[in-house]
Amino acid sequence: MEDSILALLDNAKKEIVASNSTSFVNEVRVKYIGRTGLLTSMLKDLKNFPSQDRPAIGKLLNDARIAIENLISQKTAELIVEEQKQKEYNETLDISLSLPSYKRGVLHPLSIVKNEIIDIFTGLGFSIEDGPEIELSKYNFELLNIPADHPSRAFCDSFYISDDILLRTQTSGIQARVMEKTLPPIKIICPGKVYRPDDDATHSPMFQQIEGLYVDKNVSLADLKSVLQLFAKKFFSESTKVRFRPSYFPFTEPSVEVDLSCAMCGGAGCSLCKGTGWLELLGAGVVNPIVLDNCGIDSSIYSGFAFGIGIERATMVKYGIPDMRILFDGDVRYIDQFR
Ligand code: PHE
Repeated sequence: MEDSILALLDNAKKEIVASNSTSFVNEVRVKYIGRTGLLTSMLKDLKNFPSQDRPAIGKLLNDARIAIENLISQKTAELIVEEQKQKEYNETLDISLSLPSYKRGVLHPLSIVKNEIIDIFTGLGFSIEDGPEIELSKYNFELLNIPADHPSRAFCDSFYISDDILLRTQTSGIQARVMEKTLPPIKIICPGKVYRPDDDATHSPMFQQIEGLYVDKNVSLADLKSVLQLFAKKFFSESTKVRFRPSYFPFTEPSVEVDLSCAMCGGAGCSLCKGTGWLELLGAGVVNPIVLDNCGIDSSIYSGFAFGIGIERATMVKYGIPDMRILFDGDVRYIDQFR
């Protein structure tokens, strides 16, 4: 009996040592010390032995069971660690694996230019304001001193939705909205889409503007000049020259048109600047006191300047693009050049 117990213990030991997984160790446990296991059955048979032999055999069987239990828990602990290591190893990402390369998109030149302009003005302390693209004529025209008989109010020059609602023709309406609800100082830029029924190489029915507005005490044309000069030099180059030409807008007085020395020929005259040496960039002026008063700002205390930059225009001037329509074609080969 003693020999068969020791042989059984020996087999169990060999099988535990040879086990390479926790589930295999568990099978060994069931085989020897499970409910119907080999050693368990021997313990159950103990009652059939002569009573004088039972203590010694019982002790041997018990010792064998304890030895097997200890070996199993030791081996299980080792295998858990190993299995965890293996699991972690299997889960590691192989970042050296080369995959087919995907073509990454690029920002559209209009987005690049818009972001650049926004960056320059936010750097100067202007904050960004938004407004509706479907606008009341009150904000698009009336508050901005554009009287009912002004040419741009004719139906053919705007996309009307009803008598007094239209697709905004300029982002200037946002100025009126902000002035109506804000006390100066106001220092804002308003980027957004605008709509006019024009369509040729330099006009599109939809284009984007960035309107700027600064209202405070003692704001003058000199402030406007210095801000726009700074903008031009940052946006183009230090050597860019800026020229202010007298102009007319109903919402600014005096009004100016701002030209830049041509980036392509440096002012000598070329096809881009049509031989003039200058490129027209934006409209601006000192806010008409009528507009301030219309929007509830006392023009005897406050003054301001405003400017409106066409983003398509700025993009064409900056990159020497002769036809605006290419910016809306969505030709990836073209856009890809701005990578
Ligand atoms: N709103 C004008 C336009 O669309 C531009 C402008 C803005 C001019 C502000 C002066 C002041 O042409």
